[in-house]
Amino acid sequence: MGNLPRHIAIIMDGNGRWATERGLKRVKGHEKGAETVRTITTYASRHPEIEVLTLYAFSTENWRRPKMEVDFLMRLLASYLKKETPTYIENGVRFETIGDISRFSDNLRRQIEETKEATKRCDRLTQVLALNYGSQDEIARAAAKLCAKGGEITVESLSRSLETARFGPVDILLRTGGEQRLSNFLLWQSAYAELFFTQTLWPDFTPEELETVIEAFKKRHRRFGGV
Ligand code: FPP
Repeated sequence: MGNLPRHIAIIMDGNGRWATERGLKRVKGHEKGAETVRTITTYASRHPEIEVLTLYAFSTENWRRPKMEVDFLMRLLASYLKKETPTYIENGVRFETIGDISRFSDNLRRQIEETKEATKRCDRLTQVLALNYGSQDEIARAAAKLCAKGGEITVESLSRSLETARFGPVDILLRTGGEQRLSNFLLWQSAYAELFFTQTLWPDFTPEELETVIEAFKKRHRRFGGV
């Protein structure tokens, strides 16, 4: 049997460049990027093999951006979730998050909880938004939790203690926007992931290009350390 792209994780990069190339403000790129989130999620929900789609929407380092851009992203997220919740339900998409959302506004946290609650029985696709997420922090917190319980630290026990344990290992890790780095995203979970990098800026990314990645993934020979 070929490889199944059960869990796809995407670093959505290039929104800012997409906008500045057009003489627009960076935030316009995020707006367009949100449309791509919608298109790709809908496509993934109809794809029989994809069960989990994890999207890096806000990293622990993104707080360093100008306040105006951070505020815009927060408002965009809240309004996106509010508007899209019926579509999530229609497409059978369960909404989840990873990362520490405690620093977010009451309004955004309330909306996140509402969308999670409204979609909790959807079972065609799980869309996980990584929000204020950092992988090293996730691993350190899992290790600290195990130590506090007096538990032994093994690969299995640590894997089980991660916040992301319920979503399983990543099969395809894709980054748009031309950079070739992981930027502290799902490091543990991507131990055996197949990596893909594209020059395409996130607002220009299409379901057709995702399908090309999936086809290439199926042809790769995954050995998981064997021969
Ligand atoms: C990277 O582009 C993108 C982000 C930091 C934010 C991702 C946000 C979205 C795709 C839109 C909102 C998300 C949802 C779920 C509604 P960049 O700004 O770093 O681009 P650049 O490298 O060209 O500057």
